[in-house]
Amino acid sequence: MKLSVFGCGYLGAVHAAAMASLGHDVVGIDPVAEKIAKLSAGETPFFEPGLPEILSQSLASGRLRFTTDPAEAADADVHFIGVGTPQRRDGAGADMTYVNQAVADLIPHLKPGALVVGKSTVPVGTAARLAELVNAAGARLAWNPEFLREGFAVKDTIEPDRLVYGVADASKEQDTTILDEVYSRAIAAGTPRIVTDYATAELVKVAANSFLATKISFINAMAEIAEVTGADVTQLADAIGHDARIGRRFLNAGVGFGGGCLPKDIRAFTARAEELGKGESVAFLKQVDEINLRRRQRLVDLVVDSFDGRVFGRHVAVLGLAFKPDSDDIRDSPALDVAVRLKGLGAEVVSHDPEAIENARRLHPQLTYADSVDAALEGAEAVVVVTEWKQYRELDAVVTAAKVARPVVFDGRNVLDPATWRGAGWTYTGMGR
Ligand code: UGA
Repeated sequence: MKLSVFGCGYLGAVHAAAMASLGHDVVGIDPVAEKIAKLSAGETPFFEPGLPEILSQSLASGRLRFTTDPAEAADADVHFIGVGTPQRRDGAGADMTYVNQAVADLIPHLKPGALVVGKSTVPVGTAARLAELVNAAGARLAWNPEFLREGFAVKDTIEPDRLVYGVADASKEQDTTILDEVYSRAIAAGTPRIVTDYATAELVKVAANSFLATKISFINAMAEIAEVTGADVTQLADAIGHDARIGRRFLNAGVGFGGGCLPKDIRAFTARAEELGKGESVAFLKQVDEINLRRRQRLVDLVVDSFDGRVFGRHVAVLGLAFKPDSDDIRDSPALDVAVRLKGLGAEVVSHDPEAIENARRLHPQLTYADSVDAALEGAEAVVVVTEWKQYRELDAVVTAAKVARPVVFDGRNVLDPATWRGAGWTYTGMGR
């Protein structure tokens, strides 16, 4: 099929390359010339395992190209909108500038009967509004939310765990057939598929992310209680996680969630619910947000306490900057936030991350960055693990102790074994354990 993908960021670039790898003919469109030049040369503008491979294969096959010119979408029968919907600068709601612009750029080039497919996470009601514009141009609109996780984006796009199509009643069968053809491999593999209306499709996405955020904040709330009672939140999570109705996944307590999705999605959902006069229905999401942000400060407080309340001039090694491992994404990253807060208190923070230093440096040039874990650890009076990269999880407690000035470790992701680290002479502090 001939497809276009508007937006070549974390979502769009992966979608474009993945669709081409499935055999479709794809053009990726983004107004940022630098991004397009990189992608066209087979370079990924961000770190995502597996993306470089499918990108270069698809470019070589001739089925994938990138451009800044929306007119090049004219040939396609299906157009995906995969641009960002960040938090507004002036409030909690979603900034719809990029979605609106992408649709406006696309409309003059739509073939009659083309299908526009929204993938961006949007406030409920957006699809109905955009459908009027698209229909007036003789085309149709569907909403097909994306559930990919950074770090697993390629796999999640090619082998999604479910497909959701929000389609107009009048063209339900026609649009479903087209989307089934786009996703024919996943459909053939028996991937569950839910065909529904626009509002449900839009809500599925924010509901899913709200649920995940709530699960994380729930266990972090338990961590707060564990901290004042001497309980161990990790064992608590293991124990309740054995109940299949609860499940162990997304019950890892620590510095909490960040990234370009969960934080802004719960805020945008709250703002949209308030607009709809139903703010009370999701008022708990404000607490989910508050619990989450409290954990960052809690970790900072623990570090400061270990220096008897004054961290000024003390050398703190912060391991991790990305919001999660296998990503270079620092949007709303708890790890980066902790580094910045400690630096703000006068600590000599030295940060390391295997992939995110470049992005962090652009945003926070005032921080000190180390090229290697060893360089960050050298002379450290406290080590703070805030992103659970494999290389940090696998640090040898004995070897690491020899590198630092003071063997004090803060496990912001509860991924180190307390007994092993204590056994090697460390003062170990986890989050709620
Ligand atoms: C999230 C969702 O998981 C995806 O399904 C969704 O498609 C995506 O947002 C999106 O809306 O585009 P992602 O932002 O890549 O994906 O990251 P997650 O794996 O959900 O992790 C989010 C944050 O929660 C990370 O900072 C992670 O460290 C934290 N987390 C996760 C915890 O603190 N504890 C856990 O148990 C799990």
